Amino acid sequence: MAKTRFDCVCVGISTVDVLALLDQPLCEDEKIPAREVLVDGGGPAGTAACAASACGLRTAILSFIGGDLWKDFMLEGFRRFKVATDFVLCVPRMATPVSLIAVNNRNASRTILWNGQGAGSRRVDLAGLLRRGLLDTRALHYDGHLMNVSVRLAREARRRGILTSYDCGSIRPGWAKLAALSDVFIASHKFTRQLGMPLPAAVGWLRRRFGFRVAVTAGEKGFYYFDEGRGGVEFVRQKHYAAVDTTGCGDVFHGAFLAGYLKGRDFGAALRFAQKVAGEKTRALGGRAGIPQLDSV
Ligand SMILES: Nc1ncnc2c1ncn2[C@@H]1O[C@H](COP(=O)(O)OP(=O)(O)OP(=O)(O)O)[C@@H](O)[C@H]1O
Ligand SMILES: [Mg+2]
Repeated sequence: MAKTRFDCVCVGISTVDVLALLDQPLCEDEKIPAREVLVDGGGPAGTAACAASACGLRTAILSFIGGDLWKDFMLEGFRRFKVATDFVLCVPRMATPVSLIAVNNRNASRTILWNGQGAGSRRVDLAGLLRRGLLDTRALHYDGHLMNVSVRLAREARRRGILTSYDCGSIRPGWAKLAALSDVFIASHKFTRQLGMPLPAAVGWLRRRFGFRVAVTAGEKGFYYFDEGRGGVEFVRQKHYAAVDTTGCGDVFHGAFLAGYLKGRDFGAALRFAQKVAGEKTRALGGRAGIPQLDSV
């Protein structure tokens, strides 16, 4: 088979994250001195792309950004991680999505205030993007925020034999349609909570309904996955980390998983690798700034 230009193309939201590390939980109508303030790139697809690239994949991103003062910051952020920006769609009158993130230094929890600036309902010239080589890739990864585009792309990717991967962070209209087009489905515990199903029952239900490779991450506890070899749901506990900030842990998990999987690890081993990389991420402030050096994992 001819070599593709990319290993992985990520589709979804990219944001500017403004993070403040606080010694206390967020409190309304107060002035709270921050221990540290950081401006970083973020967003589930954007950060997954950076993590995948940091783990050695040739990666590209399809996201909307605005033609505002954040444009160069966003593009430079991707270039620093060697993520191809050919498919970053810069919309002149759109504001770049910005997230305000309060991180509690005591337990590394993050409270996120964000606005997608309508990126999810924007139209794209899919035929044009395909002509420019958007699917010249081994894998397509999406976060579900650009739902219509992702469904159309996943369908085409399937037709071409490209691996499709879904980071399902929450229930949103169209999730089941996109899930049915996915080879790999890794959801957050927030998603299964919304489904109203306990873990690990949700993992078994998802596997029966969709037949894909499936896992659900559960923050500092660990993750559950369907082990095809043993024919059942397994739990893998997370090692304890002196966590500073959990922002972007899920996104980094996805990027690292794809790197492990595409480099030939089996599903369970790729998930364990992702768990290590995501765990290391917790040691530093920022979703992307906290992506560890590979030699530390
Ligand atoms: N406090 C923590 N300590 C160690 N590892 C963590 C911690 N929080 C998260 N992780 C790691 O990151 C993975 C993903 O975290 P989580 O389940 O919170 O993702 P998520 O809900 O998708 O969050 P997000 O996408 O907003 O980062 C976990 O499976 C675990 O490996
Ligand atoms: Mg997530």
